Amino acid sequence: MRIGRHFLWTVLPFQALLSLAYLGFCDSTWKYCVSFDEIIRSSTEQLRGTVDVAPPARQGTSSTEQLRGSVDVAPPARQGTDVNGTGSFETEIIVNSSSNVSNGKGSNASNDDNAMDLARQSADLARQSTTSLAPIQLAPIGLLRDHLVLAMGDVGRFNPQNGTYRLNRAFWECYSKKWGASVLFIDPRRFEKCQLHTDWFFRRVCAVASLVEAFVRDSKENVSETADSFGLPVAPRWIFHLDGDSMLSNLDLPLSDFTVPWDREGKSLVFYERFHNGEIAAGNYALRVSELAAQFLRGWERKVSETKNVKFTNSDNGVLHLHLVWYLQKELSFPQGSLQNASHAWASVLRQFRASKDIGSYDRFVALVKLALGPRRDFKHLLVGRRGHGFCADDWTKMYLSKLHVCHHAVKSAAQLVKMIGQSCIDKSLQCLQGPAVCAPQTEREARVKLRNFKPDRFALGNVNDISSCWPNCTRDIPQAVWGQMAVGLQKNGHCLSPRMACCC
Ligand SMILES: *[C@@H]1O[C@H](CO)[C@@H](O)[C@H](O)[C@H]1NC(C)=O
Ligand SMILES: *[C@@H]1O[C@H](CO)[C@@H](O)[C@H](O)[C@H]1NC(C)=O
Ligand SMILES: *[C@@H]1O[C@H](CO)[C@@H](O)[C@H](O)[C@H]1NC(C)=O
Ligand SMILES: *[C@@H]1O[C@H](CO)[C@@H](O)[C@H](O)[C@H]1NC(C)=O
Ligand SMILES: *[C@@H]1O[C@H](CO)[C@@H](O)[C@H](O)[C@H]1NC(C)=O
Ligand SMILES: *[C@@H]1O[C@H](CO)[C@@H](O)[C@H](O)[C@H]1NC(C)=O
Ligand SMILES: *[C@@H]1O[C@H](CO)[C@@H](O)[C@H](O)[C@H]1NC(C)=O
Ligand SMILES: *[C@@H]1O[C@H](CO)[C@@H](O)[C@H](O)[C@H]1NC(C)=O
Repeated sequence: MRIGRHFLWTVLPFQALLSLAYLGFCDSTWKYCVSFDEIIRSSTEQLRGTVDVAPPARQGTSSTEQLRGSVDVAPPARQGTDVNGTGSFETEIIVNSSSNVSNGKGSNASNDDNAMDLARQSADLARQSTTSLAPIQLAPIGLLRDHLVLAMGDVGRFNPQNGTYRLNRAFWECYSKKWGASVLFIDPRRFEKCQLHTDWFFRRVCAVASLVEAFVRDSKENVSETADSFGLPVAPRWIFHLDGDSMLSNLDLPLSDFTVPWDREGKSLVFYERFHNGEIAAGNYALRVSELAAQFLRGWERKVSETKNVKFTNSDNGVLHLHLVWYLQKELSFPQGSLQNASHAWASVLRQFRASKDIGSYDRFVALVKLALGPRRDFKHLLVGRRGHGFCADDWTKMYLSKLHVCHHAVKSAAQLVKMIGQSCIDKSLQCLQGPAVCAPQTEREARVKLRNFKPDRFALGNVNDISSCWPNCTRDIPQAVWGQMAVGLQKNGHCLSPRMACCC
């Protein structure tokens, strides 16, 4: 949309006034109005995406922490105190289902007990027989033995009785039973050297780096110290790092469907773009246990220094974007928009990062990063899955079913899940009879229509729904024709001076 300078200056203030009355933000054609609610919701989502593995009580008073404090997770104390009693409802789900639904063959235990049993078992379950859960079809022995699903967080969150993410955990443990992958829920406080970080998320990055380094060292020395200390049957070759609110969705999809091609292509790091805002997720990524991955993580961690005095960093997630531009500089092609070369791009994104003070300015920073990355997503050792093509689905609205995804991000509570898929589906899933996605409220076909018709309204999407003609089978890199349009949008949005919080310049 073109708007003249005059139009811009005379209309915007007026509109801004109206917009405030409306409690929302609109573009100058009034075509895209985003309600304040929506912005809060999506920004909360955006943060929660990475926050929800239970940051400890905040102590700092830096503005960043305060900002995060205003939007990030409900501390455990919130359980049961929601207006609608999310917490207590969650408890009821288990209690009621145990008294109601039958248990399936092979066990007289209640669903509740089943869930508890599952949750109590540790990651090496995979090696044991599954007699207590007869209906599971066992995968070929050892297929995913060297794959580790790793979620870090306060252990309370994963407590099988009362943890917010106990269902997520139970479902992953079904996955472990079925496929022999290891599943670990650990507290980053186990990594003492990472306590230096005041930011919980950087502590987590540090913890993962330490873990990867330890595995690499063990493998060089032919020892299994680290695997042993975490109760793993073998040292992992691939680690799928997940936020605690990332739920298993497709029980039937082996992780090897992803990692076999990645191995073949020499990939060591795999990220993906979040669907609704184009941000590259920091909480869900896969890595091959390797020096390369460890170095990447340490580089990411070190850039914590760039967050000093930046008002709104989105913690490790903002810094991940900086780090990608830095790390991939030799593989990027220029010019892209006004970015002339790699050093110019670096200086520009850094400047924009330092100016980030709220969701709107943060989004502009991400837009500029996306411009710098160009159309390429498939790099030599690193892959960024395009929107809707990650190993996890990141549609923050309703669950959709796709064979593409093994997990679904942003499942915050059992109550939310009941709304999505219903209680009896949860019960069956807790018995490992199916993955929750079997009962997804939308079919693949419906999801396809929805995702392809999505209206991009966040700056970092460049005003283009880049998957609109190809989902779920898009090429890894963005086709030139699509990129041509997107680059224009990203250029505008990345340098947008209007005070708007959402689309578009
Ligand atoms: C509580 O849940 C009911 C039923 O889902 C809903 O109608 C109501 O709006 C909710 N209240 C709040 C405050 O969220
Ligand atoms: C659970 O069962 C109790 C007792 O039967 C009932 O009062 C409550 O409403 C039920 N909760 C749900 C979520 O069905
Ligand atoms: C289980 O719940 C359903 C629906 O709430 C109800 O129709 C059924 O009678 C219950 N079964 C038992 C055994 O309580
Ligand atoms: C369930 O099975 C266990 C042993 O598998 C047994 O000890 C228990 O009595 C059984 N409970 C019921 C209610 O049948
Ligand atoms: C959750 O249950 C554990 C016991 O399994 C208990 O120690 C803990 O205090 C409980 N936490 C909350 C928040 O109720
Ligand atoms: C480690 O084990 C492999 C195979 O078991 C062997 O070939 C290699 O020499 C060993 N390396 C060291 C450092 O012991
Ligand atoms: C990169 O681009 C900037 C801005 O156009 C320019 O000043 C600088 O000389 C360029 N650097 C190189 C190495 O080409
Ligand atoms: C995606 O592409 C593959 C391979 O070309 C094809 O087998 C599959 O049917 C396609 N899926 C969809 C949903 O178009």
